[in-house]
Amino acid sequence: KPPPPPGPLSDTSAKLVNDAAHPFQSPGNDDIRGLCPGLNTLANHGYLPRQGIVTPAQIINAYCLFILGFNMGNDLALRLAYTAILVDGNPLTNLLSIGQKSALTGPDPPKPAVVGGLDTHALFEGDASTTRADAFFGDHHSFNETQFDELVEFSNKFGGGVLNLTAATEFRFQRIQESIATNPNFSFVSPRYVGAYGETAFPLLLFVDGRKADRQLPLDHAREFFQDGKMPDGFFRANESITIAIVGGLVEEIFLAHPIQPGANQGRINSYTVDPNDPGFTDQCKGYTDFVNITVKSLYPNPQGILKDTLNTNLDYFFLSMKGTNCTQVFPFDQ
Ligand code: HEM
Ligand code: MG
Repeated sequence: KPPPPPGPLSDTSAKLVNDAAHPFQSPGNDDIRGLCPGLNTLANHGYLPRQGIVTPAQIINAYCLFILGFNMGNDLALRLAYTAILVDGNPLTNLLSIGQKSALTGPDPPKPAVVGGLDTHALFEGDASTTRADAFFGDHHSFNETQFDELVEFSNKFGGGVLNLTAATEFRFQRIQESIATNPNFSFVSPRYVGAYGETAFPLLLFVDGRKADRQLPLDHAREFFQDGKMPDGFFRANESITIAIVGGLVEEIFLAHPIQPGANQGRINSYTVDPNDPGFTDQCKGYTDFVNITVKSLYPNPQGILKDTLNTNLDYFFLSMKGTNCTQVFPFDQ
């Protein structure tokens, strides 16, 4: 049985995290890195195993407990870590690659399970990312200089030279418009839809030095995190735990400035069509039940034995992140 996830931090103050015990080291040839600058950074500083193969508890520890990488809230870390292990990880070994598929996560459960690591397209990962291109263009996991340059341009134009809420909001809208206009397969549905807005808020809350905590990210720091997975020299983590409620507050502002509904292009550019069944931001509980009953179930239609037990346990741990809602837990596999 996978061990229960760690609980919340007791000391949530800002503190030096780029310290002597966690020096930056570029990944070695066999070390795996992927499309999440947060996890790449933690691995490059040794908060996560440098190899890039991790367990959910290690992820949550690295964010939340004694090793305290970024001071992400326990609920948010649970949500992300168990989304990842359920769709991209190996339930039989409790291991997840933070990048491409790897034999190091052990023998796979039967198909249609994918166990492809975080880079897997269209489960957790999706289109209109900040500094990574759409899968349609061939590489959806590497840092993309063109997109980063555009982020810099937006920060200069809307943020007075830093990545602030206005610049991030306008860039989120721009990334969506660009995908509509250039990617015939553009898909922007849940859970990616909600994730895209979250990833726009993260840099303002988690990459900004906790002594400053003004939601304004200097562009040289942005480049270090996004491109190199590196904390700036002397970096302090956030000065409070960044919970789902805090991220949600920013996400609401980002969304309301340009309220794009979930949908997709129809195999042609400029054919974006809203999907009326997608819960988007309007029905959080349907977002949860669709994730369990559709996304997870499509990978594990009829699990048996240990596989079923482990999936049920991970679904219970995932549901811990729904504590702040009044959604009812659903059970896609018999108990
Ligand atoms: C992107 C997973 C924690 C910051 C992503 C993506 C995944 C992911 C799958 C790709 C989505 C896409 O753009 O298509 C996770 C998991 C986490 C985690 C499982 C574990 C708790 C964090 C943390 C931070 C962070 C702590 C910040 C400190 C970001 C940012 C992006 C991103 C800024 C957008 C990258 C870009 O496109 O430029 N994450 N993440 N993540 N994540 Fe994470
Ligand atoms: Mg993406």
